[in-house]
Amino acid sequence: MKIAILHGPRDLRIEEKPLDTSSLKSKEIWIKTEISALKIGTDRGNYEGAEQVPGAPVGYPRWVGDSNLGIVQGIGSDVKRVKIGDRVVTRQAHQSEYITDDSASLVKVPEGVNSEDAVFAHLYALSSQCFHKAQFRVGENVAVIGLGVLGLGAVALGPLFGGRLIAIGNSATRLDMAKRMGAHAGYLYNDPDLQDKLDNFTNGFGVDLVILTANPWPAFRTALQSVRENGRVSIVSLLGRGETPLNFNPLSMELFYTKGISLHAVSGPAGYLYPNGGISPMIENRYDNDRTAVHILSLMEDGLLEPKKLITHRFHYTKMVEAYEMAFNRQKSMLGVIFSWKEQ
Ligand SMILES: NC(=O)c1ccc[n+]([C@@H]2O[C@H](COP(=O)([O-])OP(=O)(O)OC[C@H]3O[C@@H](n4cnc5c(N)ncnc54)[C@H](OP(=O)(O)O)[C@@H]3O)[C@@H](O)[C@H]2O)c1
Repeated sequence: MKIAILHGPRDLRIEEKPLDTSSLKSKEIWIKTEISALKIGTDRGNYEGAEQVPGAPVGYPRWVGDSNLGIVQGIGSDVKRVKIGDRVVTRQAHQSEYITDDSASLVKVPEGVNSEDAVFAHLYALSSQCFHKAQFRVGENVAVIGLGVLGLGAVALGPLFGGRLIAIGNSATRLDMAKRMGAHAGYLYNDPDLQDKLDNFTNGFGVDLVILTANPWPAFRTALQSVRENGRVSIVSLLGRGETPLNFNPLSMELFYTKGISLHAVSGPAGYLYPNGGISPMIENRYDNDRTAVHILSLMEDGLLEPKKLITHRFHYTKMVEAYEMAFNRQKSMLGVIFSWKEQ
């Protein structure tokens, strides 16, 4: 099998590794990758050698990527979740094939859903968690700051969830993309009239919820300035990671205390009030990552969500370094990036 391995900052290589699929254990699933997607924000930081992220692989050499779509090739005797031939999305690394466990994050893709949409299911599930974590309510005004894959996912989901959605970005190209994904309005973060425009758009009521998906500190300041008094800010970005150090007090009275803002770290699923107490099937969290991804796939199946509209680049896996270098150079024309694992 082939796998992308990072040996140090900007030293990414495709390597050959053995994979024994001849005797799968009872809970094992063997999957061959069709495509994988680049998660620009985190993957770029890892590629550059930025600060370590909890849960991500440590040190070098290490794997990269976590959005993988493939076909099940074989299953162990106790596997019930999938059968041979099923198309699945997982959070596995960029690699041509692998063996995973029945308990790992994995969701079956409905027949009508295009693979190039489905491969974004777990990323969009994280965009969805930004709403859940801050207890989003139907009809609220939501501003999404930062228009990468996660931000544009939140932009697309907001109107589907019943929100009035404002996109705030740092480039006109990304604002255009946000409009195509369903934003009701779009503004540049450094527009001198931003606060007036937000007031106008919300009829003076203000932004109830800000979803922050950008790492730089100026984006954090915009988030706290944009949200209304007693509003909430969902932060999925890794603030300051790989960015210019902070030069202001991020929790000054003016930005935080006086406004009574709530800040929510979107580092996983939100808590859930109504577990079913052990009745089969056991539901501890109705909105855990895989169930949320199932919902995302159902929106795709209904034709309401189409991340592939934002695919700007398709690469054969052998050209992966080219893609990471483009991300490293922060090319704004680059957004959805797909790697094909078909042998040429
Ligand atoms: N919490 C989690 O579990 C989790 C999981 C995955 C990802 N993440 C994080 O979530 C974030 C979003 O991921 P992503 O893949 O969508 O990242 P991304 O592609 O880097 O998107 C962030 C976007 O925000 C833009 N931006 C920078 N400064 C801005 C400002 N002041 N105002 C408005 N926009 C600004 C960036 O532009 P430039 O490129 O010009 O800076 C970029 O286009 C990343 O920080 C990622 O590490 C968190």
